[in-house]
Amino acid sequence: MATVQNKDIQKKEAALKALEFVKDGMLLGLGTGSTATFFVEALGERVKAGLNVIGVPTSERTGQLATSLGIKVSDLSTYPRLDLTVDGADEVELDSLNLIKGLGGALLREKIVAKSSKRMIVIVDESKLVTKLASHVPVPVEIVPFGFESTLGRITTLGGAPRLRPGEDGKPYVTDGGHYIADCAFKPIDDGRELSQQLKLVVGVVETGLFIGIAKSVIVAKSTGIEVLTRK
Ligand code: A5P
Repeated sequence: MATVQNKDIQKKEAALKALEFVKDGMLLGLGTGSTATFFVEALGERVKAGLNVIGVPTSERTGQLATSLGIKVSDLSTYPRLDLTVDGADEVELDSLNLIKGLGGALLREKIVAKSSKRMIVIVDESKLVTKLASHVPVPVEIVPFGFESTLGRITTLGGAPRLRPGEDGKPYVTDGGHYIADCAFKPIDDGRELSQQLKLVVGVVETGLFIGIAKSVIVAKSTGIEVLTRK
């Protein structure tokens, strides 16, 4: 079984591989989470060495990190169309390259930035690969705070077991967009697109952590080396 240390080594390897896809002058979506952090740190080194890129962060914390490393940071209001987004994921479905994202709490901005990009490259260690989504993690669903109890009830009718995510202070976790997150346990998902559409129809749901047909390539760091999976 992979240790935390081994996982971190693999996350960093995937992040370094993703740097090979970054070209001078690119507008880059910058992901959130521990794997994306390795990418932003490595990008910072390249920027110090003269690479010229502009980053659009998917969270306040990624924005702060990028700025601290000397990476120029902007937003989608200034640059509505990006060249490339590099981000992590919580699960990657092997055949489809559909994803679950949002355990780090940034799923809404992550999806907006990814959908605003010509290409999304996902970077993961091999523990994230699954044959069906929701095998190991719940589906994070961003919901509005108003009436959240009844929103959770409506999600239950879709077969999910939602749990309101607590923050460090014990109060509900609040996203950068001012919403709550329901972590919804589902049985391994047969049809992610269908479930995503059903969840989006629930009143009170802002966005789901199901990323369907968005990732173009997934860089997987394994104990045997790097593998790049590309969606057909
Ligand atoms: C952030 O909201 C998430 O979507 C992350 O991209 C995801 O949780 C992966 O995080 P790690 O790279 O820390 O595993």
